[in-house]
Amino acid sequence: MDGSHATASDERTTHARLQDLIETGRAVIGVIGLGYVGLPLVRAFAGSGFRCLGFDIDRSKVDRLKAGESYIGHVDASALASLIRAKRFEPTSDLLRLSEADCIIICVPTPLTDSRDPDLSYIEETARSIANTLRRGQLVVLESTTFPTTTRVAVWPILEATGLKCGTDYFLAYSPEREDPGNPLFQAATIPKVVGGFDDASAALACAMYGRAVVEVIRVSSLEVAEASKILENTYRAVNIALVNELKILYDKLGIDVWEVIDAAKSKPFGYQAFYPGPGLGGHCIPVDPFYLSWWARSHGEQTRFIELAGEINVHMPHYVVSRLAEFLNNQRKPINGSRIAILGVAYKKDVDDPRESPSFELMKLLLARGAELSYSDPHIPVLPKMRHYADLPAMRSDELTPAYLAAQDCVLIATDHSAFDFDFIVEHSKMVLDTRNATRHVSRGREKIRKA
Ligand SMILES: NC(=O)c1ccc[n+]([C@@H]2O[C@H](COP(=O)([O-])OP(=O)(O)OC[C@H]3O[C@@H](n4cnc5c(N)ncnc54)[C@H](O)[C@@H]3O)[C@@H](O)[C@H]2O)c1
Repeated sequence: MDGSHATASDERTTHARLQDLIETGRAVIGVIGLGYVGLPLVRAFAGSGFRCLGFDIDRSKVDRLKAGESYIGHVDASALASLIRAKRFEPTSDLLRLSEADCIIICVPTPLTDSRDPDLSYIEETARSIANTLRRGQLVVLESTTFPTTTRVAVWPILEATGLKCGTDYFLAYSPEREDPGNPLFQAATIPKVVGGFDDASAALACAMYGRAVVEVIRVSSLEVAEASKILENTYRAVNIALVNELKILYDKLGIDVWEVIDAAKSKPFGYQAFYPGPGLGGHCIPVDPFYLSWWARSHGEQTRFIELAGEINVHMPHYVVSRLAEFLNNQRKPINGSRIAILGVAYKKDVDDPRESPSFELMKLLLARGAELSYSDPHIPVLPKMRHYADLPAMRSDELTPAYLAAQDCVLIATDHSAFDFDFIVEHSKMVLDTRNATRHVSRGREKIRKA
């Protein structure tokens, strides 16, 4: 730690030196948190020629990376291994090596506490690790999703307590991550980055850094605008998904297929963006982030009624699916109690191996409470992971979708529409199929066995 203040010419040198390191690709990029966001980001920077240090306190992740493995399905192990061999990526758990990085990007989790308040402990702990070795000429960028003012109130004071001064000795910015795991059309390097700086110097350096690795950089006027833009994006999704979820229930009562309605509406070339209903919200972002904003609003004496209402509707969806399943079975003179039900898909969305906040866990809990004989199949999740809020679920392994397995089920419930599922085959061999994703839309034979929910 270097607590002495810089002179005016030192300041220019500090900034110019870092700018030069970035512009010539010689800056060392440190990424903290090698998860769904951090690992693709390493790939983007290392792929653009930078040397990257990847930090994670989870030693098993670091060991697996060093052994040439990837623990994230859509991040190619061989590409990471070749970056490691080329010495452009070095994973480590040694946070003291943060001093080696010229630019440090924070990609640690921002979950909710049990009382659904923001849990900033990961960000604060990371800020303390950075402060431990902070030196003149480092740029720190927070990427974790959070409410506006977090960088200024939770990160800046910890860094400033070192005696170094932001904007002259070190630099601080916020740039929200917009990763869409499993989307083959967009990866870290091809998604535009919004950047807000603590000051002009910080914003300029962060823009220069991202400009070397991503397709487009949008500079905004402050840290808070950048933070607020991310929460707007995710709240917009949560609210629009809630809207179509609510309409699904209404239209279904009237015998109208909501997916057909959405397909019709999206033919309008302007003013409408399609969102799709499902069995509930999942993933690390959409079910969580809007509550960061509503907590922040409450702490300022304001309300976010759209967020609360959307949350209520989305949380209700697994209950709606179970009520549809009960009706469907009832029509066959069967109760849920004792029926064999297979859940297809426990990842929160198509073609990913991420189970976080997946509605499949709530569906399992509700169905088990009603006495169902439950099993599941998910080629991306071979063993049911233990989830904090679903610790009582029994240990389960993914079953293979054989004709005999499907035929033995009283109902097959499609919760995630993975591309690996052959829906013609599934419908052909199942007695009944409850489809929460419109995954069976192209199935032509056996449609009488399908209900949507
Ligand atoms: N997953 C997504 O699709 C996505 C998309 C956009 C934004 N985000 C946001 O990005 C952030 C990270 O999300 P994620 O999905 O990558 O999470 P993740 O859980 O996959 O990865 C976070 C990693 O940080 C590590 N970590 C935790 N504390 C640490 C510490 N003190 N020092 C070093 N490493 C530490 C964990 O071991 C883990 O490997 C969150 O704020 C999230 O909201 C996620």
